[in-house]
Formats: sequence, structure tokens, C-alpha cells
Amino acid sequence: MAGLFATIEGIDGSGKTTVAAKVADSLHRAGIAVAQTTEPTHTWRGEAVKWAIDRDVDGVSEAFLFLADRKAHGAEIRVWLDAGKLVLSDRYADSTYAYQGARLAGRIPDPVAWLRDLSLPFVVPPDVTYFLAVPPHVAIARLASRSKTIRFEEPAFLAAVDANYRKLANNPRFVTVDATRTAETVAGDIERDLMQRFPRPRAST
Ligand code: TMP
Repeated sequence: MAGLFATIEGIDGSGKTTVAAKVADSLHRAGIAVAQTTEPTHTWRGEAVKWAIDRDVDGVSEAFLFLADRKAHGAEIRVWLDAGKLVLSDRYADSTYAYQGARLAGRIPDPVAWLRDLSLPFVVPPDVTYFLAVPPHVAIARLASRSKTIRFEEPAFLAAVDANYRKLANNPRFVTVDATRTAETVAGDIERDLMQRFPRPRAST
């Protein structure tokens, strides 16, 4: 595959979505062919995932819905990569390992390993993953200013998700970014890093 696959991960309230939009925007303005994408996706599968989250379905059903959404998303990602694009995804497989890994803890032995095994046949391996690290209490304070709260923002759960992310990030694929700083600063760090990894065609054709 010719392109580069970058993912952005972090707990709710890490500022991930704002940062991803800023990064995609400035890379685009620099003439880089960026495909910006997200999970849950904007397809019917992504809608099914959101439906399930809102209704607090059981953890195994939820995990399989996220995986179904990802399987279809992977096919799209491969097409962009084959076209030589820089694919930037706001959340990908590590979200399932971190969130459903926390949700299924105590219910399934080693849920992260189980989720990885299930994902193996179809997950597109990211070239780089930016983990936006923010202490859970900071994330929760940020989330308090939003009107809608969902189960995933419950403090003890978010702390368990954060712990999973920190374990996952102990891997050379990850770049841990201090996300207690402004979204502009965080995005700037990621942009510079991506420009170095993807110093390729700035063609505007
Ligand atoms: P978002 O707020 O980044 O759009 O994500 C929606 C919620 O879904 C968020 O609380 C994280 C959660 N999520 C999972 O639990 N597992 C996953 O695999 C993904 C992609 C998201």
C-alpha cells in the first residue's frame, strides 16, 4: 500500500476530534492528499453502533457492532491507501481494545487479547497512532461543559479506558502527545510529525 495510515486515539474529552479536524485541514492546505475519516463511521453500521451505545446494550453485542463497522471501514481505508493518500482516522481499532477491553474486564478472560484476535483478519495496521494523553479528571472537567453525557464518560470507566490506552501506547507504533495543552499546539505537533513521515507529493492535480 502506497499511502500512510495514521490514527488518533484518546479518552472522551481528550480533544481528539477538534485536533483531528485541525490536522486534516492544515495538511490539506499544504497540498497533501488527506482522507479524513472517523469511527463510529457515518454509515448504517456506524449508526447501529451509536444506536447500541445510546441504549446501553450488553458489552459483547457492542463489541461485535464496533468490529462490523470497522470491517467495512477497512475496505474503504485500503482504497485510499492504494491511491497514495494520507488516511487520518479519528479513532480506530485501539478504541475497541481500550473501551470494550474495559467494558468486558471480569466478564471475559483477557478481553484485549480476545478483541485483538477477533480483529486480526480485517484490521488495517496503522503506521502511526497518536495517543492524546490527558488525565481522566481533566477530561471529565472538559466534558462537564457539554450538555449530553453518555455511559462512556462515567469517571471509573474512563479511568479504566485510560489505563488500557497507556498500556497499548507502550509500543513503537504510538506517539504519546500531551493533550492538556491547547488543541492548536497538539495539532501542530502531530502535523509536523506527519509531514516528516509523509513528505510526499504535494501535487494539486
Ligand atoms: P466519539 O465520541 O469519538 O465519536 O466516539 C463515540 C464513543 O464510542 C466514545 O465514547 C468512544 C466509543 N468507542 C468505543 O467504545 N469503541 C470503539 O471501538 C470506538 C470506535 C468508539
